[in-house]
Amino acid sequence: MRLVAFPLIVCCLAACSSEADVRLATPAEIEGDAINAPLLGLKGDATRGEAVFTERAQGHCVLCHAAQQLDTEFQGSVGPDLTLVGARLSEGQVRLRIADAQRLWPETVMPSYYRADGLNQVGDEYRGEPALDAQQIEDLVAYLATLDGEQT
Ligand code: HEC
Repeated sequence: MRLVAFPLIVCCLAACSSEADVRLATPAEIEGDAINAPLLGLKGDATRGEAVFTERAQGHCVLCHAAQQLDTEFQGSVGPDLTLVGARLSEGQVRLRIADAQRLWPETVMPSYYRADGLNQVGDEYRGEPALDAQQIEDLVAYLATLDGEQT
């Protein structure tokens, strides 16, 4: 059981303040728990997104997440299994979770990949993980949308 009261208050204050969006590398409109519009209006590519998800030099999300659709040998279990994430979350919800997971979960170990300040507050072992650019985020959003339990 986590102490949620304090982070929740901080989160609400941040969400209500006009500075809230300054933390994202490109100001984007946050609606509820989602960023519904693609970052910079870019179109994502699911094939590239799979590479961003698995490659160490890019997002390396498999460090913490697994998806049954992947052949990748090592897949992590620190974060939730993403096998059916495309059925569970909208693209906008996925976009915000990748861009700034810490906005939703201030104590999370998941890095905020699209934060201007680059202050991830993650454990030292993850500190070298690269932040992503808008195109990589959109590619990931397109890829995770395909993980919906339906054959493509
Ligand atoms: C250091 C571990 C770590 C890394 C690396 C990481 N995540 Fe996460 N992720 C988590 C954890 C933990 C959560 C659950 C949030 C929480 O409660 O802290 C999460 C949650 C999520 C969620 C929401 C899942 C749901 O079912 O609600 C998505 C989507 C996600 N991560 C995508 C990604 C993507 C894409 C990447 C790579 C760019 C990534 N994560 C990298 C740890 C990580």
